[in-house]
Amino acid sequence: MKYIIGNWKSNKNIVETRDWFAKFTNIYSKQKETISTANLTLVICPPFILLPLAKELRDKYGLPLSLGVQNISPFVEGAFTGEVTANMAKEFAQYAIIGHSERREKFGETDNILSEKAKRAKSASLTTVFCIPGPETPVPVEADIVAYEPVWAIGTGKTESPQKAGEVAEYIKKKNPGKSVIYGGSVKAENVNSFLSLGSIDGVLPGGSSLDPQSFFDIVLNASSL
Ligand code: 13P
Repeated sequence: MKYIIGNWKSNKNIVETRDWFAKFTNIYSKQKETISTANLTLVICPPFILLPLAKELRDKYGLPLSLGVQNISPFVEGAFTGEVTANMAKEFAQYAIIGHSERREKFGETDNILSEKAKRAKSASLTTVFCIPGPETPVPVEADIVAYEPVWAIGTGKTESPQKAGEVAEYIKKKNPGKSVIYGGSVKAENVNSFLSLGSIDGVLPGGSSLDPQSFFDIVLNASSL
């Protein structure tokens, strides 16, 4: 089983989300007889505010997509203005991205805060996709999937070499037994199988190429041929 987890980051509004789901459904329904997604777990992570709509459209079109959040509150509930808790998210999502390097760098999220977030996600039965910029970054015991995303490969069009990514994934697995490891950083249809064909890499986390329904579908299509 390989994961393909699309991180929309801070992109799209309601109109654009409707458009993505309509177009993806159109593309997918034309080819669904010829591709098998049985060995793939497909996840889309829209901004919080679009999750109810994404869930509604996913259900309406009968798409084989799970949903995830891109962040979660480190607190259970209460007087924490602006925070979205794991209990709120779980009504719409099955996955939670935690510790993305953009959260670490631009929002000052520390290992301690991220460890609290992983606890909240776990107790709400969300599957945690815990992002780390390098193999030595601590991974909380509650994390389910570790996403290795070198900062220099994010949004740059440059990827880690598959061989190096595979070695890092093996190292992360030795350090954190029992966890799946996925790769993120400029993943697209043309390079996805160079990562997924490695036994040590359990999936990918595309950002930019998940925004366009055709690009995301092409990733799925290529991965389904493995
Ligand atoms: P890009 O695929 O746009 O490089 O983004 C990767 C990423 O940060 C996914 O979380």
